[in-house]
This record gives sequence, C-alpha cells and structure tokens, in this order.
Amino acid sequence: MEIVILPTADEVGRAAAAKIAHLIARKPDTVLGLATGSSPLAIYAELAVRREQGLDVARVSGFALDEYVGLPVAHPQSYASVIRTTVTEPIGLDPARVHVPDGLADDIEAACAAYEAAIGAAGGVDLQILGIGANGHIGFNEPTSSFSSRTRIKTLSSRTREDNARFFGTLDEVPSHCVTQGLGTIRDARELLLVAQGENKADAIAAAVEGPLSSMVPASILQWHPHATVIVDEAAASRLALADYYRHTFAHKPAWQRWDA
Ligand code: GLP
Repeated sequence: MEIVILPTADEVGRAAAAKIAHLIARKPDTVLGLATGSSPLAIYAELAVRREQGLDVARVSGFALDEYVGLPVAHPQSYASVIRTTVTEPIGLDPARVHVPDGLADDIEAACAAYEAAIGAAGGVDLQILGIGANGHIGFNEPTSSFSSRTRIKTLSSRTREDNARFFGTLDEVPSHCVTQGLGTIRDARELLLVAQGENKADAIAAAVEGPLSSMVPASILQWHPHATVIVDEAAASRLALADYYRHTFAHKPAWQRWDA
C-alpha cells in the first residue's frame, strides 16, 4: 500500500486527480469506480479542470459504489443525482457510460446481480475511488461486512445515518437501507484509491492502514489489495504511527514511479 500525506485537503484532491488523469491518458477507456460523499469532491472538480485543459474523457465509464434504497432518482440526495451533478456533468462524462445501483428495483437481488454483471461486461473497474466513513466503512459496507461480499442490500448503521443526516433535512429523512458494491466487488478493482481529509477520519485511517485486517474495519481490506493508494491530509494522518516513514518514502520516490504531476 502506498500512503501519501499532503498538507491540505485541496492538495489531496489535486494529487488524486493527477493519478486518475495519468491512468486515463494511458487507457482512454478507463472504467472508474465512483464514490459519493464529500471526500472525493475535490477530485471531481480537478478532473473537470483537466478536461477543460484537454483530458479526453469521451470513452471513460463509471460505476458508482452505492445508492440509497427507496429514494426517488430525482431526489437531490439520491446517489444517482449526486453522481450526475458532481461527476458526470462537471467532468463531461457520457451519461450512458455512468452507472448507479438501482435502489428502487422491485427485485433488489436481481438488480444487484445485474450490476455485478454490468461491471464484468465493462471489463471490470480499473480504478476504484473511495472515501471512508468515520466507522471505517467503504461504499456502504458497514463494520462486519464480509470481505467476500458482492453488491447487495445493507442496513445503514446509526453512526452512518447520523453522519449523512447533514445532507438531508432531518435524521428521519435518511433512508435506513442501501445497495452497495460488496468488499469483494471493490477488491476486484485493479487499483484502489482512498482519500480522506480532516481529523474526524484520523482514527478510521489509522485502523484501516495500520490496524489488523478485520471486518470491523471494512477499509482494512485495502491491506489485502496488490495496488492500493491512500492519500490523506495532515489531519487525517495524525494518528498514523509510521507517518514519518510514509512522508520519507513519498519524498524519495523515483521519478519514473511518480504520478503526482
Ligand atoms: C457515505 C458513502 C461513502 C463515503 C462516506 C464518507 O457513507 N456511501 O462512499 O466514503 O459516506 O463520506 P464523506 O466523504 O462525506 O465523509
């Protein structure tokens, strides 16, 4: 795992976007795994700037990690809406190439199986963008999610509903269920890129990066992935025991390995 500590939240977004832009330049039909939440917003904003500067995204496709169950697609907080307004439209992705799990299907299990099949038909995810919940969740895989889980319905924890209430009027308006790619689905992506900013993520980052591999910390599955990068600001890195080692390693990376330009 590569751990990169940068001074500010803005720099986290710019560096992560640089890494993604490198990949798209090499592979114009890149399949991106898309995360919602506030953590990746700076990445999407920077990719929009790079697209204006000539990054060709015409053949890029995307698969969102998750969706609430029962929210109308047009609801501003449905992940279908959030992905459209924060990713698809600003970056200029082809909407037909951007997919979000169906949280309104009559047969949720069949819809989840179809989502897995669609990811497979697209050739699999090249790079999965991830945020992290304060309880260590990725996507909506709450603690105790199986490391082999696939796309399925989950019940949100009260911590996650409280954390996400800021996007809704009241806590009662936050749905109690979701559909999320499983940890096994996420692990199948060829590359994982997790970003986190702020002190309230410091415990989750320390547990995910340096703690034991445990379903109690779903993001610890990154330790098991052959190509995972974690980019954090100083506040989110503040509880990492080996922070100095990570800073030294990144500062002395050979030029041919760099992706942060
Ligand atoms: C939600 C999303 C996750 C996201 C998490 C953290 O639960 N399903 O994908 O990583 O929130 O959100 P934020 O980045 O806003 O802290």
